[in-house]
Amino acid sequence: MPERRPYIAGNWKLWGTRAQATEYCRRLLTLLPEASRRPADVGLCVPFTALDTCIELLQGSGVLVAAQNMHAEETGAFTGEVSAAMLVEAGVQSVVLGHSERRQHDGETDRALQEKVPAALAAGLQPILCVGETEAEREAGDMQRKLRHQIGEGLEEVADDRLADVVVAYEPIWAIGTGQVATPDLAQEAIAFVRALVASRSEEAAESLRVLYGGSVKPENAVEILAQPDVDGALVGGASLDPESLARIAAAAAG
Ligand code: PGA
Repeated sequence: MPERRPYIAGNWKLWGTRAQATEYCRRLLTLLPEASRRPADVGLCVPFTALDTCIELLQGSGVLVAAQNMHAEETGAFTGEVSAAMLVEAGVQSVVLGHSERRQHDGETDRALQEKVPAALAAGLQPILCVGETEAEREAGDMQRKLRHQIGEGLEEVADDRLADVVVAYEPIWAIGTGQVATPDLAQEAIAFVRALVASRSEEAAESLRVLYGGSVKPENAVEILAQPDVDGALVGGASLDPESLARIAAAAAG
């Protein structure tokens, strides 16, 4: 069975001027062990305007830098958008796609993600595809249906031999920013289901593809969640704004 290296990504959302990013990155580097001694990959998902600051300060540190969105097209009449090639040119390594906040507030659709995920891969970016159900969907017993739809559409245009290059973040919407973290059992069950969905396309890819949990992850609950066999890391929002918390969560990946 291939070893899946844990991945802890901090999602700054709408936070991080260049001055804040500078202070944050300097501090984070003092808190993280050297890349070769880290139990997990570490990444930061930051606003467009802080990308170059983070890339410069984190160069050679092994900390990955991700954008929080992109457009599927390379050019065109899409005011306010940024393409995968533009991100790659800026030195960005990864991109968050389909975060529930973008689905909710910015009209992000599964249809658009069907184009964005392969476009990111083709340009050389690692997509972090976010999926997850609302509280009402969970209560109605619709979690699996929702995940089947989101994973099916989001990965539809990705060739089987590229599936393992995608990172999936399972983020139940009721757990995001609410302090109401999923129990380790719930996270494991949903993430195992995501993996089974990928396995129906390619068992080999499903063994290698990393699936993260997101939703109110903190240093205090990270060990238990990250200990689940199918949970390969965490996408951390609020707690990631404190570099010490993010470093502690990354350390928790060691078990
Ligand atoms: P949270 O956010 O950790 O603040 O719940 C997670 C996310 O939205 O990625």
